Amino acid sequence: MIGKKNYLDLSGKAAVITGAGSGIGLGVAQMLSAYGAAVAMVDISPKAEEKAQELRDAGRKAAFFQCDVTNEESVMRVVQAIADNFGRIDILHNNAGVTVRKSIDQLEEKEWDFVLDVGLKGLFLMSKHVIPEMRKVGGGSIVNTGSGWGLKGGEQAAAYCAVKGGIVNVTRAMAIDHGKDNIRVNSINPGDTLTAMMISEGRQTGEIKSDADINEFFKSCGAGRPLARIGQPEDIAKGVLFLCSDLAGWVTGAALVVDGGGIA
Ligand SMILES: NC(=O)c1ccc[n+]([C@@H]2O[C@H](COP(=O)([O-])OP(=O)(O)OC[C@H]3O[C@@H](n4cnc5c(N)ncnc54)[C@H](O)[C@@H]3O)[C@@H](O)[C@H]2O)c1
Repeated sequence: MIGKKNYLDLSGKAAVITGAGSGIGLGVAQMLSAYGAAVAMVDISPKAEEKAQELRDAGRKAAFFQCDVTNEESVMRVVQAIADNFGRIDILHNNAGVTVRKSIDQLEEKEWDFVLDVGLKGLFLMSKHVIPEMRKVGGGSIVNTGSGWGLKGGEQAAAYCAVKGGIVNVTRAMAIDHGKDNIRVNSINPGDTLTAMMISEGRQTGEIKSDADINEFFKSCGAGRPLARIGQPEDIAKGVLFLCSDLAGWVTGAALVVDGGGIA
């Protein structure tokens, strides 16, 4: 008979989250640590150290590791440091991402490379070096941050759509290859979520001309959704917690959409 179990308990597990200094990654670090995981907060920006300290002050297990996910030497050094520090790696959330809001004819080659490198190469390098650590502990869970714009197109976002579509499908390829390692691989696909990236996008597209426009911009991004609001990092972190947890024990290769119904 099916009984009540503590499926969401992550005690004893170690999670690596990229882009954990801000927005969705920070929300995930807060969520997974609340459910017992030790969290390695990976970010290119040193501001993530302050956020890791806040978690330690709250009695959670957290450490900041500065890393540029596009640089293999930096990734290898940090993955080794995390494994040494926490003794294991069970969960990887490939979440670091950037966007340049331009159509393909407007993009500079260096802008295309920047968006693809952080989003896709970063996912490749982190996964390549974390998977051997997961094998050592008998398996794990990888969650890749895609986007609604990985499942449909978006305006003035050619490089970003290339990355996010790539993430949704590389997730499926990884799920096929690493099922035998007992590693589940899924994508989480947020809709507009209140983070620094959204404000930067609003500024790039001209929808935010001054700080006074920010609230109106957020309202307009939420208005067309069945649930009539934009997301908070916590909304996305709940989906990541599900995918990392034993609740999702037979879920792999899936693209979970968390967007207030935007794609619907
Ligand atoms: N906010 C949204 O509406 C939204 C919607 C769909 C998908 N996403 C995706 O969610 C993810 C997180 O975005 P966010 O909205 O929280 O943005 P954010 O800008 O708040 O956070 C991104 C974090 O990634 C870090 N980062 C950037 N380049 C890096 C690198 N080379 N190495 C390591 N860290 C790096 C940044 O320092 C930052 O802390 C991204 O992949 C983004 O595409 C966001």
